Amino acid sequence: MSVRSFPDLSRLSRAAADFFIKSAREAIADRGEFKVALAGGNTPKALYSLLTSEPFVEYVEWPKVKFFFGDERFISPSDEQSNEHTARSYLLTPLKINESQIFSMVSDADMSSTPAAAANRYEHVFKEQLKGEELDLVLLGMGDDGHTASLFPGIAELQERAKDVVATISPKGVRDRVTLTIPPLTQAQCTLFLVGGADKAVKLRECLTAPMSEKPPAGVVAALAKRAVWYVDDAASDLVQDLCERG
Ligand code: 6PG
Repeated sequence: MSVRSFPDLSRLSRAAADFFIKSAREAIADRGEFKVALAGGNTPKALYSLLTSEPFVEYVEWPKVKFFFGDERFISPSDEQSNEHTARSYLLTPLKINESQIFSMVSDADMSSTPAAAANRYEHVFKEQLKGEELDLVLLGMGDDGHTASLFPGIAELQERAKDVVATISPKGVRDRVTLTIPPLTQAQCTLFLVGGADKAVKLRECLTAPMSEKPPAGVVAALAKRAVWYVDDAASDLVQDLCERG
């Protein structure tokens, strides 16, 4: 596991763009495609915008990228609170990504069923697309309670190891969620956390220093991940400066 701290979100996002591009180029060279799960929330917006701008946009063969989602709110993708809405606005639409490359976790059609049914549908799509392989890159954020994706502290779904996708309940904001579980989040070639802001400092310290039994969900995912990388800003890493490389 590595933790790199950057002076601010802008420089964190530029480094994350370089990391994304390197991961994509390596996967496409080795396996002919790049399978990435996008993070929700606000932190990755700057990264997504950078990837659509010069010179970054030229460095990836975008038609060879498959876009999945780490989690989603159980709302229409047309709702501004939807993680897919954010990804389309900041990344997928500006890049003119073909619909065949985008794997919605919650679609408008899902809205007539239940979060559990949406999770079951995505489980099949996810397995069908990955064909037994793992994701190449998982992008994740972390909430100020230490949640990641839609795996919230204390929920039973943190123990799920058979299913790749489950429905969960959020204690804040949009209640009903669909999320990847710990196995796909940790078995990816790389799990990259993007965390900024002083409000994350206490939980980041717990993620990095608490015993496993006391780690918040983001810390558990990082500890179990095949390869976990944290890109944080100096405000978030204020309590763990001794554990960080300088960005
Ligand atoms: C979500 C995200 C969630 C997010 C964290 C951090 O659906 O809300 O998947 O896990 O990454 O809440 O959000 P910010 O980046 O906005 O702080």
